Amino acid sequence: MKVLDQFIVKTLPFVPKPVVARLSRSYIAGDSLDKAIETCKRLNREGFRVTIDILGEFVTHFDQAIESYEGYRDVLAAIAKHQINGNVSIKPTSFGMLLDKDRCFKLIDQLMQDVKTHGNFMRLDMEDSPCTDMTIEFYDAYRKKYGPEHVGIVLQAYLRRTLNDIASITAAGSSHFRICKGIYVEPEAIAYKGYEEVRANFIASLNAMFDAGAYVGIATHDDYLYEEAAKIIKARGLKTDQYEFQMLLGVRERLRDQIRAAGHELRIYVPFGKDWYGYSVRRLKENPSLAGQFFKAMFIKG
Ligand code: FDA
Repeated sequence: MKVLDQFIVKTLPFVPKPVVARLSRSYIAGDSLDKAIETCKRLNREGFRVTIDILGEFVTHFDQAIESYEGYRDVLAAIAKHQINGNVSIKPTSFGMLLDKDRCFKLIDQLMQDVKTHGNFMRLDMEDSPCTDMTIEFYDAYRKKYGPEHVGIVLQAYLRRTLNDIASITAAGSSHFRICKGIYVEPEAIAYKGYEEVRANFIASLNAMFDAGAYVGIATHDDYLYEEAAKIIKARGLKTDQYEFQMLLGVRERLRDQIRAAGHELRIYVPFGKDWYGYSVRRLKENPSLAGQFFKAMFIKG
Protein backbone atom coordinates (compact mmCIF):
# COMPACT_ATOMS: atom_id res chain seq x y z
CA MET A 1 0.00 0.00 0.00
CA LYS A 2 1.27 3.47 -0.91
CA VAL A 3 2.18 5.96 1.84
CA LEU A 4 -0.84 8.19 1.14
CA ASP A 5 -3.20 5.18 1.23
CA GLN A 6 -1.65 4.09 4.54
CA PHE A 7 -2.21 7.58 5.91
CA ILE A 8 -5.88 7.55 4.84
CA VAL A 9 -6.38 4.10 6.41
CA LYS A 10 -4.95 5.41 9.71
CA THR A 11 -7.16 8.49 9.63
CA LEU A 12 -10.35 6.69 8.50
CA PRO A 13 -11.94 6.97 11.97
CA PHE A 14 -11.76 10.77 11.58
CA VAL A 15 -13.12 10.87 8.02
CA PRO A 16 -16.64 12.34 7.99
CA LYS A 17 -19.34 9.65 7.73
CA PRO A 18 -20.83 11.07 4.49
CA VAL A 19 -17.41 10.70 2.81
CA VAL A 20 -17.08 7.10 4.07
CA ALA A 21 -20.61 6.50 2.73
CA ARG A 22 -19.66 7.78 -0.72
CA LEU A 23 -16.39 5.82 -0.74
CA SER A 24 -18.08 2.56 0.19
CA ARG A 25 -21.10 2.79 -2.14
CA SER A 26 -19.85 0.01 -4.41
CA TYR A 27 -19.50 -2.44 -1.48
CA ILE A 28 -23.10 -2.18 -0.29
CA ALA A 29 -26.32 -2.95 -2.16
CA GLY A 30 -28.21 -0.08 -0.48
CA ASP A 31 -30.08 0.51 2.72
CA SER A 32 -33.24 -1.47 1.90
CA LEU A 33 -34.19 -5.06 1.08
CA ASP A 34 -35.72 -3.89 -2.22
CA LYS A 35 -32.36 -2.50 -3.31
CA ALA A 36 -30.58 -5.69 -2.25
CA ILE A 37 -33.03 -7.79 -4.26
CA GLU A 38 -32.51 -5.56 -7.31
CA THR A 39 -28.74 -6.10 -7.01
CA CYS A 40 -29.20 -9.86 -6.58
CA LYS A 41 -31.43 -10.07 -9.66
CA ARG A 42 -28.78 -8.29 -11.72
CA LEU A 43 -26.01 -10.55 -10.38
CA ASN A 44 -28.11 -13.66 -11.06
CA ARG A 45 -28.69 -12.45 -14.64
CA GLU A 46 -24.91 -12.06 -14.99
CA GLY A 47 -24.48 -15.69 -13.89
CA PHE A 48 -23.50 -15.24 -10.22
CA ARG A 49 -25.05 -16.82 -7.15
CA VAL A 50 -25.52 -14.52 -4.17
CA THR A 51 -25.57 -14.62 -0.39
CA ILE A 52 -27.39 -11.79 1.39
CA ASP A 53 -26.11 -10.21 4.59
CA ILE A 54 -27.97 -7.64 6.68
CA LEU A 55 -25.35 -5.23 7.95
CA GLY A 56 -24.98 -5.05 11.71
CA GLU A 57 -22.95 -6.86 14.34
CA PHE A 58 -22.10 -6.86 18.04
CA VAL A 59 -25.57 -5.65 19.07
CA THR A 60 -25.92 -4.16 22.55
CA HIS A 61 -29.63 -4.85 23.25
CA PHE A 62 -31.60 -8.00 22.60
CA ASP A 63 -34.28 -5.93 20.79
CA GLN A 64 -31.70 -5.40 18.04
CA ALA A 65 -31.17 -9.17 17.86
CA ILE A 66 -34.89 -9.66 17.35
CA GLU A 67 -34.79 -7.01 14.62
CA SER A 68 -32.02 -9.01 12.90
CA TYR A 69 -34.15 -12.14 13.10
CA GLU A 70 -37.18 -10.38 11.62
CA GLY A 71 -35.04 -8.81 8.93
CA TYR A 72 -33.67 -12.20 7.87
CA ARG A 73 -37.17 -13.72 7.81
CA ASP A 74 -38.06 -11.01 5.29
CA VAL A 75 -34.91 -11.73 3.30
CA LEU A 76 -35.74 -15.44 3.09
CA ALA A 77 -39.30 -14.66 1.99
CA ALA A 78 -38.03 -12.20 -0.64
CA ILE A 79 -35.49 -14.72 -1.99
CA ALA A 80 -38.35 -17.21 -2.43
CA LYS A 81 -40.78 -14.66 -3.91
CA HIS A 82 -38.28 -13.30 -6.46
CA GLN A 83 -36.76 -16.72 -7.15
CA ILE A 84 -33.27 -15.45 -6.36
CA ASN A 85 -30.46 -17.96 -6.74
CA GLY A 86 -29.11 -17.19 -3.30
CA ASN A 87 -28.95 -17.84 0.41
CA VAL A 88 -28.24 -15.88 3.61
CA SER A 89 -25.14 -15.17 5.68
CA ILE A 90 -25.57 -14.11 9.29
CA LYS A 91 -23.27 -12.73 11.97
CA PRO A 92 -24.11 -14.48 15.27
CA THR A 93 -23.29 -11.35 17.27
CA SER A 94 -26.09 -9.54 15.42
CA PHE A 95 -28.38 -12.15 17.00
CA GLY A 96 -26.99 -11.35 20.45
CA MET A 97 -24.42 -14.14 20.87
CA LEU A 98 -22.27 -12.01 23.18
CA LEU A 99 -25.29 -10.80 25.19
CA ASP A 100 -27.10 -14.05 25.95
CA LYS A 101 -25.79 -17.19 24.33
CA ASP A 102 -28.84 -19.40 24.98
CA ARG A 103 -31.32 -16.82 23.82
CA CYS A 104 -29.24 -16.20 20.72
CA PHE A 105 -29.08 -19.93 20.00
CA LYS A 106 -32.88 -20.14 20.17
CA LEU A 107 -33.35 -17.09 17.96
CA ILE A 108 -31.07 -18.45 15.24
CA ASP A 109 -32.78 -21.83 15.67
CA GLN A 110 -36.09 -20.12 14.88
CA LEU A 111 -34.53 -18.68 11.74
CA MET A 112 -33.22 -22.14 10.80
CA GLN A 113 -36.83 -23.34 10.79
CA ASP A 114 -37.61 -20.72 8.13
CA VAL A 115 -34.45 -21.64 6.23
CA LYS A 116 -35.57 -25.26 6.16
CA THR A 117 -39.17 -24.39 5.20
CA HIS A 118 -37.88 -22.39 2.24
CA GLY A 119 -35.45 -25.17 1.32
CA ASN A 120 -32.67 -22.60 1.65
CA PHE A 121 -29.29 -22.35 3.35
CA MET A 122 -27.77 -20.25 6.14
CA ARG A 123 -24.08 -19.51 6.53
CA LEU A 124 -22.76 -18.59 9.97
CA ASP A 125 -20.12 -15.92 9.31
CA MET A 126 -17.11 -16.14 11.63
CA GLU A 127 -16.39 -13.10 13.77
CA ASP A 128 -13.52 -12.44 16.16
CA SER A 129 -11.90 -15.10 18.35
CA PRO A 130 -14.19 -14.80 21.43
CA CYS A 131 -16.93 -16.06 19.07
CA THR A 132 -15.10 -19.01 17.48
CA ASP A 133 -15.99 -21.81 19.91
CA MET A 134 -19.61 -20.70 20.27
CA THR A 135 -20.08 -20.38 16.51
CA ILE A 136 -18.72 -23.91 15.97
CA GLU A 137 -20.97 -25.20 18.74
CA PHE A 138 -24.03 -23.56 17.13
CA TYR A 139 -23.07 -24.95 13.73
CA ASP A 140 -22.76 -28.49 15.08
CA ALA A 141 -26.18 -28.28 16.71
CA TYR A 142 -28.02 -26.82 13.68
CA ARG A 143 -26.30 -29.25 11.32
CA LYS A 144 -27.47 -32.15 13.46
CA LYS A 145 -31.02 -30.81 13.74
CA TYR A 146 -31.64 -29.45 10.21
CA GLY A 147 -29.17 -31.35 8.04
CA PRO A 148 -25.81 -30.33 6.54
CA GLU A 149 -27.46 -29.07 3.35
CA HIS A 150 -29.12 -26.18 5.22
CA VAL A 151 -26.29 -24.70 7.24
CA GLY A 152 -22.62 -23.86 6.83
CA ILE A 153 -19.78 -22.25 8.75
CA VAL A 154 -16.79 -20.02 8.00
CA LEU A 155 -13.25 -20.78 9.13
CA GLN A 156 -10.39 -18.29 9.01
CA ALA A 157 -6.97 -19.20 7.63
CA TYR A 158 -5.20 -16.71 9.92
CA LEU A 159 -6.17 -18.68 13.04
CA ARG A 160 -3.59 -21.24 14.16
CA ARG A 161 -6.40 -23.53 15.36
CA THR A 162 -8.16 -23.84 11.99
CA LEU A 163 -6.71 -27.19 10.86
CA ASN A 164 -7.76 -28.70 14.20
CA ASP A 165 -11.24 -27.22 13.81
CA ILE A 166 -11.54 -28.73 10.34
CA ALA A 167 -10.58 -32.15 11.76
CA SER A 168 -13.14 -32.04 14.56
CA ILE A 169 -15.97 -30.51 12.49
CA THR A 170 -15.58 -32.96 9.63
CA ALA A 171 -15.28 -35.92 12.05
CA ALA A 172 -18.74 -35.03 13.35
CA GLY A 173 -20.47 -35.15 9.97
CA SER A 174 -20.86 -33.88 6.43
CA SER A 175 -19.64 -30.28 6.38
CA HIS A 176 -20.22 -27.11 4.40
CA PHE A 177 -17.42 -24.58 4.79
CA ARG A 178 -16.39 -21.15 3.65
CA ILE A 179 -12.66 -20.62 3.99
CA CYS A 180 -11.35 -17.03 4.09
CA LYS A 181 -8.21 -15.32 5.37
CA GLY A 182 -9.96 -13.60 8.30
CA ILE A 183 -10.56 -9.91 8.84
CA TYR A 184 -10.39 -9.18 12.60
CA VAL A 185 -7.33 -8.07 14.58
CA GLU A 186 -6.14 -11.06 16.63
CA PRO A 187 -3.11 -11.57 18.92
CA GLU A 188 -0.08 -13.30 17.44
CA ALA A 189 -0.39 -16.10 20.01
CA ILE A 190 -3.46 -17.38 18.20
CA ALA A 191 -3.14 -15.97 14.69
CA TYR A 192 -0.61 -16.04 11.87
CA LYS A 193 0.50 -12.53 11.03
CA GLY A 194 2.65 -13.03 7.93
CA TYR A 195 0.98 -12.67 4.52
CA GLU A 196 2.64 -15.86 3.25
CA GLU A 197 1.83 -17.83 6.44
CA VAL A 198 -1.85 -16.98 6.07
CA ARG A 199 -1.81 -17.98 2.41
CA ALA A 200 -0.09 -21.28 3.29
CA ASN A 201 -2.67 -22.06 5.98
CA PHE A 202 -5.47 -21.15 3.55
CA ILE A 203 -4.18 -23.74 1.07
CA ALA A 204 -3.56 -26.34 3.81
CA SER A 205 -7.11 -25.77 5.11
CA LEU A 206 -8.60 -26.04 1.63
CA ASN A 207 -6.83 -29.36 1.08
CA ALA A 208 -7.92 -30.65 4.51
CA MET A 209 -11.54 -29.72 3.76
CA PHE A 210 -11.47 -31.46 0.37
CA ASP A 211 -9.68 -34.50 1.91
CA ALA A 212 -12.64 -34.81 4.28
CA GLY A 213 -15.15 -34.62 1.42
CA ALA A 214 -16.57 -31.26 2.52
CA TYR A 215 -18.21 -28.66 0.26
CA VAL A 216 -16.06 -25.51 0.21
CA GLY A 217 -16.82 -21.89 -0.59
CA ILE A 218 -13.40 -20.47 -1.44
CA ALA A 219 -13.65 -16.82 -0.42
CA THR A 220 -10.81 -14.69 -1.70
CA HIS A 221 -9.81 -11.89 -4.06
CA ASP A 222 -6.16 -12.92 -3.96
CA ASP A 223 -4.91 -13.92 -7.44
CA TYR A 224 -2.39 -16.33 -5.95
CA LEU A 225 -5.02 -18.15 -3.87
CA TYR A 226 -7.43 -18.27 -6.80
CA GLU A 227 -4.75 -19.78 -9.04
CA GLU A 228 -3.60 -22.31 -6.40
CA ALA A 229 -7.21 -23.30 -5.63
CA ALA A 230 -7.94 -23.73 -9.34
CA LYS A 231 -4.91 -26.06 -9.61
CA ILE A 232 -6.11 -28.10 -6.61
CA ILE A 233 -9.62 -28.36 -8.07
CA LYS A 234 -8.20 -29.54 -11.39
CA ALA A 235 -5.78 -32.02 -9.84
CA ARG A 236 -8.54 -33.54 -7.70
CA GLY A 237 -10.99 -33.57 -10.61
CA LEU A 238 -13.62 -31.79 -8.49
CA LYS A 239 -17.04 -31.00 -9.92
CA THR A 240 -18.94 -27.73 -9.45
CA ASP A 241 -21.22 -29.37 -6.88
CA GLN A 242 -18.21 -29.77 -4.54
CA TYR A 243 -17.00 -26.17 -4.34
CA GLU A 244 -17.61 -22.59 -5.40
CA PHE A 245 -15.63 -19.38 -5.32
CA GLN A 246 -16.97 -16.47 -3.28
CA MET A 247 -16.25 -12.75 -3.48
CA LEU A 248 -17.54 -9.57 -1.87
CA LEU A 249 -19.78 -7.15 -3.76
CA GLY A 250 -17.78 -4.42 -5.50
CA VAL A 251 -14.35 -5.99 -5.07
CA ARG A 252 -12.12 -6.97 -8.04
CA GLU A 253 -14.88 -7.41 -10.59
CA ARG A 254 -12.39 -8.29 -13.32
CA LEU A 255 -11.18 -11.27 -11.30
CA ARG A 256 -14.71 -12.48 -10.70
CA ASP A 257 -15.40 -12.40 -14.47
CA GLN A 258 -12.17 -14.32 -15.05
CA ILE A 259 -13.23 -16.98 -12.49
CA ARG A 260 -16.65 -17.39 -14.15
CA ALA A 261 -15.07 -17.53 -17.60
CA ALA A 262 -12.87 -20.41 -16.37
CA GLY A 263 -16.07 -22.41 -15.68
CA HIS A 264 -16.27 -22.09 -11.89
CA GLU A 265 -19.39 -21.14 -9.96
CA LEU A 266 -19.07 -17.89 -8.05
CA ARG A 267 -21.19 -16.48 -5.24
CA ILE A 268 -21.24 -12.76 -4.44
CA TYR A 269 -21.69 -11.61 -0.84
CA VAL A 270 -24.33 -8.86 -0.96
CA PRO A 271 -24.57 -6.74 2.20
CA PHE A 272 -27.33 -4.20 2.69
CA GLY A 273 -28.88 -2.20 5.50
CA LYS A 274 -28.66 0.91 7.57
CA ASP A 275 -25.79 -0.27 9.77
CA TRP A 276 -23.15 0.14 7.06
CA TYR A 277 -20.30 1.93 8.87
CA GLY A 278 -18.23 -0.92 10.42
CA TYR A 279 -18.42 -3.07 7.30
CA SER A 280 -17.47 -0.13 5.06
CA VAL A 281 -14.42 0.78 7.11
CA ARG A 282 -13.15 -2.83 6.97
CA ARG A 283 -13.56 -2.89 3.17
CA LEU A 284 -11.86 0.47 2.72
CA LYS A 285 -8.89 -0.65 4.81
CA GLU A 286 -8.39 -3.55 2.38
CA ASN A 287 -8.59 -1.38 -0.71
CA PRO A 288 -5.13 -0.87 -2.18
CA SER A 289 -6.04 2.25 -4.19
CA LEU A 290 -7.81 4.29 -1.60
CA ALA A 291 -6.24 7.69 -2.21
CA GLY A 292 -7.73 8.37 -5.67
CA GLN A 293 -11.19 7.31 -4.55
CA PHE A 294 -10.88 9.30 -1.34
CA PHE A 295 -10.22 12.56 -3.15
CA LYS A 296 -12.98 11.83 -5.68
CA ALA A 297 -15.43 11.23 -2.83
CA MET A 298 -14.30 14.42 -1.06
CA PHE A 299 -14.38 16.77 -4.01
CA ILE A 300 -16.42 15.34 -6.89
CA LYS A 301 -20.18 15.05 -6.59
CA GLY A 302 -22.20 12.16 -8.06
P1 FDA B 1 -6.19 -9.80 0.25
O1 FDA B 1 -6.70 -8.97 1.36
O2 FDA B 1 -4.73 -10.05 0.17
O3 FDA B 1 -6.71 -9.19 -1.08
C1 FDA B 1 -6.28 -9.65 -2.35
C2 FDA B 1 -6.37 -8.52 -3.32
O4 FDA B 1 -7.74 -8.16 -3.48
C3 FDA B 1 -5.70 -7.25 -2.80
O5 FDA B 1 -4.37 -7.18 -3.16
C4 FDA B 1 -6.51 -6.19 -3.43
O6 FDA B 1 -5.97 -5.97 -4.74
C5 FDA B 1 -7.88 -6.76 -3.58
N1 FDA B 1 -8.84 -6.30 -2.58
C6 FDA B 1 -9.15 -6.89 -1.41
N2 FDA B 1 -10.09 -6.17 -0.76
C7 FDA B 1 -10.36 -5.10 -1.54
C8 FDA B 1 -11.22 -3.99 -1.44
N3 FDA B 1 -11.99 -3.83 -0.37
N4 FDA B 1 -11.28 -3.09 -2.44
C9 FDA B 1 -10.50 -3.24 -3.53
N5 FDA B 1 -9.65 -4.27 -3.70
C10 FDA B 1 -9.57 -5.18 -2.72
N6 FDA B 1 -13.71 -12.65 7.09
C11 FDA B 1 -13.99 -13.10 8.33
O7 FDA B 1 -13.21 -12.92 9.24
N7 FDA B 1 -15.17 -13.77 8.56
C12 FDA B 1 -16.08 -14.03 7.58
O8 FDA B 1 -17.12 -14.64 7.83
C13 FDA B 1 -15.78 -13.55 6.26
N8 FDA B 1 -16.64 -13.76 5.22
C14 FDA B 1 -16.24 -13.45 3.94
C15 FDA B 1 -17.06 -13.79 2.86
C16 FDA B 1 -16.62 -13.57 1.56
C17 FDA B 1 -17.49 -13.98 0.40
C18 FDA B 1 -15.33 -12.98 1.33
C19 FDA B 1 -14.81 -12.79 -0.05
C20 FDA B 1 -14.56 -12.60 2.40
C21 FDA B 1 -15.00 -12.81 3.70
N9 FDA B 1 -14.23 -12.41 4.79
C22 FDA B 1 -14.57 -12.86 6.05
C23 FDA B 1 -13.09 -11.46 4.61
C24 FDA B 1 -11.78 -12.19 4.43
O9 FDA B 1 -11.40 -12.76 5.64
C25 FDA B 1 -10.68 -11.23 3.95
O10 FDA B 1 -10.50 -10.23 4.87
C26 FDA B 1 -10.91 -10.59 2.61
O11 FDA B 1 -11.51 -11.48 1.73
C27 FDA B 1 -9.59 -10.12 2.03
O12 FDA B 1 -8.74 -11.22 1.83
P2 FDA B 1 -8.35 -11.75 0.37
O13 FDA B 1 -8.28 -13.23 0.39
O14 FDA B 1 -9.25 -11.16 -0.63
O15 FDA B 1 -6.85 -11.28 0.21
